[in-house]
Amino acid sequence: MLKIGIDKIGFYAPHLYVDMNKLAVARNVEPEKFTIGIGQEKMAVPPITQDAVTLAANAALEIIDEDDKEKIDFVIFGTESGIDHSKSSAVYVHQLLGLKPNARAVEVKQACYGATAGLQMAKGHIALNPDSKVLVLGADIARYGLNTSGEATQGAGAVAMVISADPKIMALEENNVYYTNDIMDFWRPIYSDQAFVDGKFSNEQYIAFFNKVWGQYKEMTGHALEDFEAICYHLPYTKMGLKALRTVLEEAPENVQDRLKENYQISTMYNRNVGNIYTGSLYLSLLSLLERKEDLASGSRIGMFSYGSGAVGEFFTGVLQPNYREHLHLASHESLFASRKEVSVEEYEEIFENTLPKDGANIELDIEQDPAPICLAGVNDHMRQYVNKNN
Ligand code: COA
Repeated sequence: MLKIGIDKIGFYAPHLYVDMNKLAVARNVEPEKFTIGIGQEKMAVPPITQDAVTLAANAALEIIDEDDKEKIDFVIFGTESGIDHSKSSAVYVHQLLGLKPNARAVEVKQACYGATAGLQMAKGHIALNPDSKVLVLGADIARYGLNTSGEATQGAGAVAMVISADPKIMALEENNVYYTNDIMDFWRPIYSDQAFVDGKFSNEQYIAFFNKVWGQYKEMTGHALEDFEAICYHLPYTKMGLKALRTVLEEAPENVQDRLKENYQISTMYNRNVGNIYTGSLYLSLLSLLERKEDLASGSRIGMFSYGSGAVGEFFTGVLQPNYREHLHLASHESLFASRKEVSVEEYEEIFENTLPKDGANIELDIEQDPAPICLAGVNDHMRQYVNKNN
């Protein structure tokens, strides 16, 4: 049977971050609440010159080569923080990367689930068109607002994946379990640039959805926790997946429990230092596991739990391919993390409040302050002006 899955995976986060210990002090909260209770160390802070489009384009830039440009005929962009009610962010990225014109480009929305929907659609597309490739993007800026209870779970960043036949990194298996139920745990009305959230309810529903799809998956396949090297979770904050994992751990013998707990911690390393990137979060967790666990064997089965408030949940699995490590971009991600610059809480607040004009006025932005290759240079006549500094 044709293997279909993740051939390449790239990542980008803005070059600025705020330290969660310092944010806690500024908010009169014990630092351990943020670093242990929520499980976040650093939160990426997007400058005004980055939006969902530029984040995604920057993530894709490091993985796309000439062969990809020739073969990608579908760009699927999962996002909660798209920049237009009508035109899809995928069209901008398609242009910024110089992809061939004979391609489809669409945006997919379902809170943090969009990129998973994109990945599964890509799988179907490749099954019908085995010689083509699909670019799946998950990029977001998570905004709850200053001094809100969700503030510590903000972040910004993007994951880009090339999906193809005979993938070099992870082959997707069959037997996905998906589940939809209309609930109000997190949403963002069209007039609001900040999310509304019922945090406790959202946590409960995340776990309930996980239990439901995991239970159905076990029934359908006969698989158990023993069959997994690791389970990656959608991570609004790194404690969230752990809460879900803990509800099922006792199903497994102790050595398997230890393995899953250890690998869970490794799968949260990047997220802990970036924050919530909504649609990309599950894939950032996968990337963290693949890049930071040096002895993760080819052939390992990885479980993936995707959750998008509102809500849709999905459990699916993939198998790591031979020599997959050779196709990761570890050095580039190490340097991305190492070259980030810390901003004070005051600076973060200023950046947070410095938003694009809402009255349609033109604005020119200083992209020299932003080391990213692809930046938002301004807005002119209601049109965002993007620049690829490499061109
Ligand atoms: N040391 C260690 N842990 C501490 C602590 C301390 N000093 N103080 C508090 N904590 C722990 C709490 O026990 C709690 O842990 P638990 O959840 O395991 O019980 C955790 O820190 C958070 O504390 P809590 O009082 O629940 O925080 P909160 O009311 O400020 O809300 C969220 C936290 C996560 C609910 C809130 O940030 C939020 O709504 N975030 C957005 C939710 C979201 O992303 N939803 C989408 C899901 S996909």
